[in-house]
Amino acid sequence: MRRPLIAGNWKLHKTRDESVALVTALKAAVAGVDSCDILVAPPFTALAVLAPLLAGSNIQLGAQNCYPETTGAFTGEISPQLLKDAGCSAVIVGHSERRQLFAEDDAFINRKVKAVLAAGLTAILCVGETLEERENGEILDVLTRQTKGGLAGLDATVLQNVVIAYEPVWAIGTGKTASNEDAQEVHSFLRGLLRGSYDQATADNTRILYGGSVKPDNVDGLMAQDDIDGALVGGASLKAEDFARIVRFG
Ligand code: PGA
Repeated sequence: MRRPLIAGNWKLHKTRDESVALVTALKAAVAGVDSCDILVAPPFTALAVLAPLLAGSNIQLGAQNCYPETTGAFTGEISPQLLKDAGCSAVIVGHSERRQLFAEDDAFINRKVKAVLAAGLTAILCVGETLEERENGEILDVLTRQTKGGLAGLDATVLQNVVIAYEPVWAIGTGKTASNEDAQEVHSFLRGLLRGSYDQATADNTRILYGGSVKPDNVDGLMAQDDIDGALVGGASLKAEDFARIVRFG
């Protein structure tokens, strides 16, 4: 019912030439794969270079961030409209690195989600607790606040263009992953939140990705969980072979 999505978040890596090399290798490695949606989110500078290479392929192009205005005096920022113009179909919003390093709060992230949807793009909304919040028993409160805050004011009809990514902060870039069971429990909780805020159909249809040290050797177990609908992959998305193996989970 929910088509899996495997998304690669390249973060601050890859020149244009390196991006072309990675995408060229990746295209070959995932040619013919039709069991899931595949997306890469390179740095802004590579977007317009990669768009023609990816056109007509089974790999979609996404951005890692945006600013929630269309045009104007916002030096250094980029709008969803410009990302669409560069060839993107999705934007990652509210990644924990943005929340932690750039002090983005739920209200600002909510504006971004709305701006991304208004531009006709898919919003990949990241949520996730820190280790401290987990140890203090605040995990469900944090996830509720981030999910409801990020989706505030959106009605069910636009949720079809929203993907949630659960990324426990302590698992990002650390080599530690949530156990399959712990991840499933959180995903099931998040789906319950969607059911409560919207309805059963929205909960059933919204994809919830897991992120945080997803690798070729742990993806299969994660993807076998009922409520895990894909992965947001950082480090392992920088190697075509590893990312292709993740795309070919099974
Ligand atoms: P990681 O990053 O796979 O390197 O842990 C995931 C992410 O930050 O999206």
